[in-house]
Amino acid sequence: MRFLNRVMMWAGAAMLTAVAHAQTGVGDVVYVPTPQIVVDEMLALAKVNKSDYLIDLGSGDGRLVITAAKKFGARALGVDLDTYLLKVANANARKENVADRVTFREQNLFQTDIAEATVISTYLLPEMNLKLRPKILTLKPGTRVVAHDYSMGDWYPDEQKTLVVPEKKVGSPGISYIFSWVVPALAAGKWQSTLTVGGKEVPYEFDIVQFFQNIDGEASAGAVRGEMHGKMKGEQIRFTLTGKGGQRIDRHEFEGKLAGDTLTGTVRVGVDSTARPWNAKRVKRGELQRAQDELGAQ
Ligand SMILES: C[S@@+](CC[C@H](N)C(=O)[O-])C[C@H]1O[C@@H](n2cnc3c(N)ncnc32)[C@H](O)[C@@H]1O
Repeated sequence: MRFLNRVMMWAGAAMLTAVAHAQTGVGDVVYVPTPQIVVDEMLALAKVNKSDYLIDLGSGDGRLVITAAKKFGARALGVDLDTYLLKVANANARKENVADRVTFREQNLFQTDIAEATVISTYLLPEMNLKLRPKILTLKPGTRVVAHDYSMGDWYPDEQKTLVVPEKKVGSPGISYIFSWVVPALAAGKWQSTLTVGGKEVPYEFDIVQFFQNIDGEASAGAVRGEMHGKMKGEQIRFTLTGKGGQRIDRHEFEGKLAGDTLTGTVRVGVDSTARPWNAKRVKRGELQRAQDELGAQ
């Protein structure tokens, strides 16, 4: 299934290149505008709002940037290498009365400083998304990323949507795929905490292995060995702890927030239990696991 997806994705990418060749656009991918209905859905999926600063990498006629400002109240920046498209984008921004909140800059998207972005948007080829990925993963946890049609390799999206768009003639004609991610905080490493269970202080340890937003690992609760599985969403953490190798332990459900080397949140132990406060300290930092497609690119 993944192989088939990939073949379809690349067939679409080849078409995006071929069909749009005669049109404007400069750099590593030709210009193909995202249909406006898809723009609206992308920005809604990324939950763009007035406190956001969106950067559209390869901004074309500026529609993502202008819509982010006009409909969602954000500030936004678009970068492109095509001077004609940059002129069109600036003219469109004036026409839509958002010129005070948007900027268009002639700049290579790979050299753009994106550190201040709270939302990144792209409609680029798959290999361009992959090339951007390591930089995106260094952004502040919680930064959202939204992409049209092409994904981010082994970094599977947190959410995705498929839209029927009859007017779309290139890429995947008639259909648009939208993918969104939230940059995860780094939870990898060894964590310790204590919980009072049945009137006794029990030491807990979690050895978290992290692959993008997915967290899994070995754990222990006193003498009982367990395993944990969960997800990060920005700084938010959520995971379950269950027994391992036939060892019995009531299912624990943890959720909370990561700040530096501290986790603070709540835990529910067993069914029907109420959430109670919980916190943990990281005693050894880990690293994000390297993705297969990153290793393959070496
Ligand atoms: C497929 S279009 C997407 C336009 C717009 N983001 C949208 O969704 O409607 C890609 C745009 O990226 C620009 N582009 C390609 N390579 C670039 C690069 N290395 N740096 C900046 N812009 C680039 C092209 O000129 C083109 O306008």
